Formats: sequence, structure tokens, C-alpha cells
Amino acid sequence: MTRYGKIQKDLQANPKVWLITGVAGFIGSNLLESLLRLNQYVVGLDNFSTGYAHNLNEVEKQVGPVQWARFHFIEGDICSKTDCQCAMYYPGALYEKQGEKDLGSSGEELIVSVDYVLHQAALGSVPRSIADPVATNAVNVDGFLNLLNAAREARVESFIYASSSSVYGDHPTLPKKEEHIGNPLSPYSVTKYVNELYAGVFSKVYGINSIGLRYFNVFGQRQDPNGAYAAVIPIWTAAMIKDEIVYINGDGETSRDFCFVENVVQMNILAATAPDEAKNTVYNVAVGDRTSLNALFYALKSALAGCGVFYEKTPDYLGFRAGDIRHSQADISKARDKVGYTPTHRIGDGLGQAMPWYVKNIKGDL
Ligand SMILES: NC(=O)c1ccc[n+]([C@@H]2O[C@H](COP(=O)([O-])OP(=O)(O)OC[C@H]3O[C@@H](n4cnc5c(N)ncnc54)[C@H](O)[C@@H]3O)[C@@H](O)[C@H]2O)c1
Repeated sequence: MTRYGKIQKDLQANPKVWLITGVAGFIGSNLLESLLRLNQYVVGLDNFSTGYAHNLNEVEKQVGPVQWARFHFIEGDICSKTDCQCAMYYPGALYEKQGEKDLGSSGEELIVSVDYVLHQAALGSVPRSIADPVATNAVNVDGFLNLLNAAREARVESFIYASSSSVYGDHPTLPKKEEHIGNPLSPYSVTKYVNELYAGVFSKVYGINSIGLRYFNVFGQRQDPNGAYAAVIPIWTAAMIKDEIVYINGDGETSRDFCFVENVVQMNILAATAPDEAKNTVYNVAVGDRTSLNALFYALKSALAGCGVFYEKTPDYLGFRAGDIRHSQADISKARDKVGYTPTHRIGDGLGQAMPWYVKNIKGDL
């Protein structure tokens, strides 16, 4: 059995308390769905700045009322110290109702501490950070520090946070290995690098255990196709379903290591439960493949054809985008060797799984 299979069994037998920040977003809501399916207790924090209540409603429908009852949502902001502090505790009454633990009839112990933090809340997107570096910094750096500090005060077992492949900046080597990074190319990549520095310092100074996950281009169900800062896969998918023109930035030979969200869920769970010697470091989270934008265009066309959507238009090419790196591909051997990460979905598998959701929701005018 893989380490992931074993951890899932252990968690089901001995449920833990998790905090997911950014729970109403794309990755956060997928983490929530998987953890509730494993009968875990989850606190979720989100201010709906780029996430949606409909993502949470969809998770509720997917998991059903019994598992949904284990979820405690706080509408709040990581820029508020108080919201971060509140999010470190799960309501004891709710916990007791699930029959896990007798908290005593005196009602003295009303709260249960979070065991694991999965910090996803941030303002994503390189172009957004170029348009408004101050807003990105406020959430991604100040908000991050508030949450890390609250996690330290609450003595959580581990603090797992979303970093990004953008930390590699202008370092030319492929595939990307964790120890070789270049200069940041955008305000967004500065914020993610600062997260890694703070997490490292907090582990040395205060002894808090953390792991940074350098996500490469993540995709899957519930990734937002709308807005100026949407990612390439949802934008193109929506355009194809609506029979609109697909725009490719640059010559189409820019390449990425596209990672299906189920792999990201796996890595978060493995990281939270990792042995101490695998903590206080960063890991690439990707597949180890490299797909050009031109190849992605045809892969998407073919995945949509599998759902009965036949796209016949040819793409239009635009200029290169500022702040974008040319090629990106991860070396995932550190994650595999240290925490047992074994991605289950390559790009074609992930597109095949995600497309029916887009067809249903774009046609339903999400
Ligand atoms: N999607 C990717 O390809 C990718 C790649 C690298 C890194 N990441 C990182 O992964 C994380 C999750 O990304 P995502 O794609 O799910 O984005 P998303 O925008 O769908 O989710 C982010 C969530 O955080 C919430 N949020 C933002 N600011 C907040 C605040 N101040 N307080 C509370 N909640 C707040 C948003 O409302 C949203 O629900 C982010 O940290 C992002 O930088 C994502």
C-alpha cells in the first residue's frame, strides 16, 4: 500500500482537526471535499474575495449532510489577527456531537485546537500582482504572517502552505529542483518567496513545523473561468465551450507542468502528516511533465470532444505576457522520496476528469 493509502486509512480511524484557509476557492474547496470524505473535522476561513459560496454549496451536495456537519465555516480575513486566531479552534460542541470525545458536562472545554493548517488563502496571479503589488503583498505577506503567528500561538502540529513555482524566477535549469532558485520575476513571486523565508525562520526561532508546497500550474473542477486573472485552462475551456476564439500568449511554445488538483490534495495530506525529518522545507508539487500551450490547446479540444463539445476554430496568437517564465517543469523526486508523493493524474487524466464539470457549469452559466 502507498503511504497515501495508509495515511487515509489512519485518518479515517483517528480523525483530525484541520484548518483550510481559502476554503471557498478552487484548491481549498477540493481539499475540503477530500477531507470531509475522510470524516475529518474542518474549520474553513475565507473572505470570498476570489472564492465563491457556490463552491462550498457544491461540496455540501457532494459529501452529504453527515460529513458536511463536520465543517465549521468562518467568513473572515487573514489580514485580521483576530480572524486568524479564531480559525485555530474548532467548536467543541460540534466535535462532541460527532461522538468523538467526551468534553465533560461542565461545558468548561468549549473548543478543540486545530491539528493541521492547510494555508491556501492568497491573491493569486502574476498579472494581478503587477497591476496591484500593494494589495498582493497585504494578503500574501502580511496575511500569511498573521496566520503563521496564530498557528504558532495555537501550537498546531504542522503548518502547510501554498508556495508557487514562480519562486524559481529566472533560474534557467530544467527540471526545477527545490534548492536552485533564481531572481523573482513578479511581485507575486516575491510574496511566495517571503512566505518560505518566514516559515523557515519561524521553525528555527519558535520551533513551529511547516512545509511549503511549490505548486506548478494546478487545474481541475471549480477553478474559476471568469475574471481578468483566470488561469489558462479554465479560460480556454470556457472559450471552447462557448465557441469563442482561444487566445494564446506568445508563440505557443511556452510550456508548463500542469498538475491536476487531486495530486495537490494528496500532497497536502502527505505533508501535514509527514514525519518530523521531512518537515521545515519546501517541495515541488507537479507531475514532472512539460506541455506546451500549443499541445494544451489540442489536449483540451480532444478532452472536450469526449464530452460531446466539438471545437473547430483555430487559436489567435498575442504578444508574450510580462512576468511569465518561458518553460516550467518540476523535478518531483524530493516529494516522492521524503513524503511518498505519487501523482495519480497526468495532464490527460486530469482534463478527462475536469471537463464534464466545465461542460455542465459553463452551459449552466456559472
Ligand atoms: N492554482 C494554481 O495554479 C496555483 C499555482 C501556484 C500557487 N497557487 C496558490 O495556491 C493557493 C490557492 O489558489 P487557488 O488557485 O485555489 O486560488 P483561488 O483564488 O481559487 O483561492 C484563493 C482563496 O483565498 C481566499 N482569500 C483571498 N484573500 C483572502 C483573505 N485576505 N482572507 C481570507 N481568504 C482570502 C479567496 O476568497 C479564495 O477563496 C494560493 O495561495 C495560490 O497563490 C495556486
